[in-house]
Amino acid sequence: MNRIFSGVQPTGNLHLGNYLGAIRNWVRLQTEYDCLFCIVDMHAITVWQDPKELVRNTREVAAGMIASGVDASKHIIFNQSTVPAHAQLSWIFNCVARMGWLNRMTQFKEKAGKHKENASVGLYAYPNLMSADILAYKATHVPVGEDQKQHLELARDTAQKFNIDYGVEFFPLPEPLIFGAATRVMSLRDGTKKMSKSDESDYSRINMADDADAIALKIRKAKTDPHPMPDGVEALEGRPEASNLLGIYAALADQDKAAVMSRFAGRQFSEFKQELVDLAVSVLGPINGEMQRLMADPAYLDGILRSGAERADAIARPIIAEVYDIVGFLRP
Ligand code: AMP
Ligand code: TRP
Repeated sequence: MNRIFSGVQPTGNLHLGNYLGAIRNWVRLQTEYDCLFCIVDMHAITVWQDPKELVRNTREVAAGMIASGVDASKHIIFNQSTVPAHAQLSWIFNCVARMGWLNRMTQFKEKAGKHKENASVGLYAYPNLMSADILAYKATHVPVGEDQKQHLELARDTAQKFNIDYGVEFFPLPEPLIFGAATRVMSLRDGTKKMSKSDESDYSRINMADDADAIALKIRKAKTDPHPMPDGVEALEGRPEASNLLGIYAALADQDKAAVMSRFAGRQFSEFKQELVDLAVSVLGPINGEMQRLMADPAYLDGILRSGAERADAIARPIIAEVYDIVGFLRP
């Protein structure tokens, strides 16, 4: 059976990269797969989170998923900490995955920066928790943005090592699903940096909670270069900001980059940006409105998360019981 698992961290500022790289793809996949969509609060605290903000951000991600079109009655939306399987399996994976594998993780290097000695142990072990998220449900497919590819490879390696070490064919090797015209949306201020929740400048990203005015302002202020739109995708090499805006347009319009390019070829970016504003507002406006409405009703969101947690737990519990038997944990 095919099962999807994916996650988003509730670290605030849910943005266009999360939408185009992940959440929108989930909405499209939900007709073909059984899906679990997880708000990974345990991952979030690998770097400091204010407790009150964490609660708020958890509900905001739930609202963002529902407003984008995830069907919470057919699929499961829940927050990670409500299901013990994640913590249980991640410990076992801490003992399966090798230091050498984790040492190669580029996300850790980026996030820990120069202060590696001062990073939390959780930040280092982060990918093992992510493998546990996926494999506690024996999920087969994982739709994510480009930046998570390396973590997915580690999850496959870990699943395989577990199977080999214990002489079982237990865990599937989960496949990444990375698709669309914007699998890596870049910062609006610097086309060589990924759009991220934690960038200090709010002008670097379009938030899913931004209203039409904020979206327009940010797109108008987005960095570009003085050249017009060329014809032919290769001509955008060395123009990261221009290339990023084109990718965003193509993804929002559901067209390929080449088609968008030939439409705008020879025109100035100021004109292109105006059309991008209209397009972005038409796609994100309704989602934003629905998010606001949902955020005003926390009891409703909590009800969805509670039901999701129960259903997720019912899937993971028997899988963890089997893992415990395989490992030799006595269940007296
Ligand atoms: P995160 O914000 O790190 O919790 O990411 C949640 C999901 O959004 C993951 O599937 C990421 O790969 C995806 N994602 C995050 N940032 C971007 C980005 N700038 N472009 C495309 N996808 C992204
Ligand atoms: N690490 C992912 C990110 O920051 C979030 C995540 C946690 C995830 N667990 C996951 C994604 C399991 C897919 C599957 O983007």
